Amino acid sequence: MYTLEEICQIVDKAIISLEFGKEPVRLYEPIRYLMSIGGKRIRPRMALMTYNLFSDKIDNSIIAPAMALEIFHGFTLIHDDIMDGAGLRRNQVTVHKKWNENTAILSGDVMCIKSYQYLAQCPPEKLQELLSLFTLTAAQVCEGQQIDMDYEQEPYITMEDYIGMIALKTAVLIACAARSGALIADASQKRCESLYDYGYQLGLAFQIKDDYLDSFGDSAIFGKNIGGDIVSNKKTWLMVYALKQMDATRKRELFAMYDNPDVTPREKISRVLALYELLGVKSAAEKAIEEYFSNAVSCIDNPGFTSDQKERLIRFGETLIRRER
Ligand code: IPE
Ligand code: IPE
Ligand code: MG
Ligand code: MG
Ligand code: MG
Repeated sequence: MYTLEEICQIVDKAIISLEFGKEPVRLYEPIRYLMSIGGKRIRPRMALMTYNLFSDKIDNSIIAPAMALEIFHGFTLIHDDIMDGAGLRRNQVTVHKKWNENTAILSGDVMCIKSYQYLAQCPPEKLQELLSLFTLTAAQVCEGQQIDMDYEQEPYITMEDYIGMIALKTAVLIACAARSGALIADASQKRCESLYDYGYQLGLAFQIKDDYLDSFGDSAIFGKNIGGDIVSNKKTWLMVYALKQMDATRKRELFAMYDNPDVTPREKISRVLALYELLGVKSAAEKAIEEYFSNAVSCIDNPGFTSDQKERLIRFGETLIRRER
């Protein structure tokens, strides 16, 4: 088995060697820009890690599909930043701000297309299954993204609504990464399913942590502007939890502030953060992240996995949820 650090290095090296087209420059330059400014690259790392649980032969048949996951993820980020009106990503100016929205849309589209080119380099006998998983997942991500935007307009959603939304926009791609690695390594159907479930639960924890860092993180480390979710009325885990604790008066005050054009974004952020403080939202979110992480662990806590494999999966999961960026 490779160490997690070695897997990281293999992923980094593969990303550096990716070739996108040359011309027109304004189509391909934004792609190179996004891929070169870093990111945690957790989806390709996940796929390589689950592959490596069953096989030591790391070659293009797993590396190319792992690249497909990261390229597809990059596409969702470029479009997400347009939808969310975000100005900062990976500590750099977002693509649609550095160039413009039309360029960001088209460069994102090409990334989505290229991701299929890389996916198709998997072992031929796995192509059909992998393609149907990937395509289903890709459509689900778009569904989740639309629901995420729809919820900006809703005054109130339940925790079940929230989990359903983040399952689609975030968890299924992480689950798909976990399953794809195992699938390519020819693991049993049952193990592939357990790893999908593990990735899914971990993905839920990962998105709650993303919501958490959007309010409580350090912008210089997180690489995004803090409070962006608050400004755009996102139904994050924090907001859904807060709404559940608020009495009618407090809710009225909050909605009045949303409707008041004199309230600056800065003021809005500080008032919502004060509300979170009052309602103990921070520690409740920390608890929820741990709960979903332990759900993830229970998905692989079965005789299908050796203790070495379990330990590896737990360690990988920990790095995702204990992150500050
Ligand atoms: C950001 O994903 C979008 C979410 C699903 C939370 P990452 O946190 O994996 O972003 P990068 O790739 O590391 O920048
Ligand atoms: C992003 O959710 C999910 C996808 C990109 C599909 P967010 O909108 O919370 O992601 P960030 O915080 O901008 O990375
Ligand atoms: Mg966003
Ligand atoms: Mg978003
Ligand atoms: Mg976010």
